[in-house]
Amino acid sequence: MKIYKIKKNTWTLATGAGILLIVLINSCAESRKVADKTGVQLWSENCRRCHNPPASNTFSHEQWVMIGMHMQTRAQLTDKERDKIIAFLQQ
Ligand code: HEC
Repeated sequence: MKIYKIKKNTWTLATGAGILLIVLINSCAESRKVADKTGVQLWSENCRRCHNPPASNTFSHEQWVMIGMHMQTRAQLTDKERDKIIAFLQQ
């Protein structure tokens, strides 16, 4: 009876660890997908959902930093995504 209990626990643990591993690998692949995106891609995917995005020469470098922070919350971007978009717009 005791042996059976140990075996059952081990099995549960192994299944849990397996599921955790799959979730971890998946989330890594997902973040790599985002990391692979260029500023242009992120800009065209996110910045024209709500309005026509103004051309990059409409604003100065400093203004783009401000707009980037403002629109980051609207577009729900990560800091990394925002930085890439700003870098693209500052070119
Ligand atoms: C969820 C909707 C939404 C998304 C996504 C969005 N914007 Fe906006 N944007 C707005 C709204 C609403 C305004 C006008 C009101 C304001 O300024 O807050 C605006 C205004 C602007 C302005 C004008 C600001 C000014 O000072 O004249 C710029 C430039 C801009 N957005 C750029 C961007 C860029 C770049 C992105 C992508 C990172 C983006 N927006 C994504 C909703 C959005």
